[in-house]
Amino acid sequence: MGIAILTSGGDCAGMNPAIKQFVDYCFDKGLQPYLIFDGLEGLIDGNIKKATHCDVAGILHEGGTILRSSRSKRFFEYDYRKQAYDNLKKHGINKLIILGGDGSFRALKQFYHDFGVEFIGIPATIDNDIFGTDYCLGVDTALNIIRGATDAIRDTSASFRRGCVIETMGRDCGYLALVSALTCGAEVCIIPELSYNLESLGAKLKEEIKNGRMYVVCVVAEGTKLTHTLVDWLEHDVGIETRATILGHIQRGGNPTVHDRLMAVEFVTFAVDKILGQDTNDGLVIVYKDGKFDFVTIDYVNSSTYTIKPNLLDMAQSMTK
Ligand code: F6P
Repeated sequence: MGIAILTSGGDCAGMNPAIKQFVDYCFDKGLQPYLIFDGLEGLIDGNIKKATHCDVAGILHEGGTILRSSRSKRFFEYDYRKQAYDNLKKHGINKLIILGGDGSFRALKQFYHDFGVEFIGIPATIDNDIFGTDYCLGVDTALNIIRGATDAIRDTSASFRRGCVIETMGRDCGYLALVSALTCGAEVCIIPELSYNLESLGAKLKEEIKNGRMYVVCVVAEGTKLTHTLVDWLEHDVGIETRATILGHIQRGGNPTVHDRLMAVEFVTFAVDKILGQDTNDGLVIVYKDGKFDFVTIDYVNSSTYTIKPNLLDMAQSMTK
């Protein structure tokens, strides 16, 4: 029996500690772990090697993924999946651990149906948008990067009596923006999940500025596509000079926080135990729900869309109207 790990989709901090734990833990269990480079593209191209301790030495504190990643279109085609399967067969690999998002899990479910290669998915995306889990690897690091940037932008905004509009990533999910707004003391938070009223917000801010407010911090999720609208609104309706900062890919990198390192170790250890010990049906995903680790099916993950907890949404209401 051979077991391999790969990283797929958008990279995130926490992937490297997960890869290291995978290799170390497999060796502890007397197994030879394998590494697949370049995600599903590397699986197709046979970019696979036997892992050594040296491969993972000194990577725990680094962001990104030493295995690199990809978003593979070729994997949708049966012939490329067959090529990927033949590559695995050459190495005797019949079990996979994949770090990525639900799209990657779906791809491996199809792969299981084609060739019976068992797998467990570990949710890893800064977007925190996977249904069934409260936490995805990389989120805490991304939030800390956003916090650092927002603290710094507030310093300069306050020095110039300016507004700042800070755009976070998250695709269609407002989790990063919402938590950042709550933890960075934003005045305005605009996310896809919440309706907003610029008229009432504007009136409130104008009053506060009249009473001495020196700056306005507005956090906006990229999924709203409202960044430039908000700059115009602050400048022209609220009447405060404003700059926009699109944080972009800085949110995906950086040294993993302690929380992401620990989550990486726990996710991987439980996932390896599960895939070695028991039938994983047609693929499972390890989730972290209500403070506990659990395993759910890919169908369950795909059965609905992630929603932010209502209490967090409630707490942000005052920043939307
Ligand atoms: O899914 C992670 C993510 O960083 C999203 O937040 C963002 O919308 C997207 O990936 C960016 O993708 P790319 O790195 O391909 O530009």
